[in-house]
Amino acid sequence: MLNSIKEVLLSEAQIDEITTKIAEQIDKDYPNRERRLLLLGILKGSVVFMSDLMKKIKRPVEIDFMKVSSYGAGTETSGKINIILDLHRSDLSELDILIVEDIIDSGKTLSYLVEYLKLGGARSVKTCTLLDKPSRRQVDFASDYTGATIPDEFVVGYGLDFAEQYRTLPFVGILKPEAYGG
Ligand code: IMP
Ligand code: MG
Repeated sequence: MLNSIKEVLLSEAQIDEITTKIAEQIDKDYPNRERRLLLLGILKGSVVFMSDLMKKIKRPVEIDFMKVSSYGAGTETSGKINIILDLHRSDLSELDILIVEDIIDSGKTLSYLVEYLKLGGARSVKTCTLLDKPSRRQVDFASDYTGATIPDEFVVGYGLDFAEQYRTLPFVGILKPEAYGG
């Protein structure tokens, strides 16, 4: 697994700093503990980031998950968003939702989900992503919380996969092109 990595982009220590900073900012931005804050993880890529992040947030939070697909088996997005696991709940109007994602690439997944949840009646909807590849954007979208901005390289680890592999690496690394037939 490790010999498919060209370069480490974010080390464990760097990721730890990032999650600490974002958690502190979330505590500042959502000071009213009476209001329910829902961290909504997008499966599967966000699980490692979300697990670390939620432990560092001091205010009460609730968690839930949705699963969407925009990618085929490879490294290019299909652009079409399918909801595979939906939020089946009737209390959206009581919730400030913070969507937690691994990475924004074209921006289609998050812009779609924000609209979807607003239409569903959520009290507020914001987004938090570990990584951002702004050079790849196809729709105008900016995340409210971003861990790190990265170049246009396919990255894996810390939840991110290539064909379901590499999610368990504790760091974020650039995949060697030969590992995905590039
Ligand atoms: P978007 O809708 O194009 O912004 O796609 C976001 C989704 O694409 C993320 O949730 C990831 O699952 C996937 N993705 C985009 N870039 C990468 C990458 O470099 N490595 C792994 N997954 C990626
Ligand atoms: Mg993925």
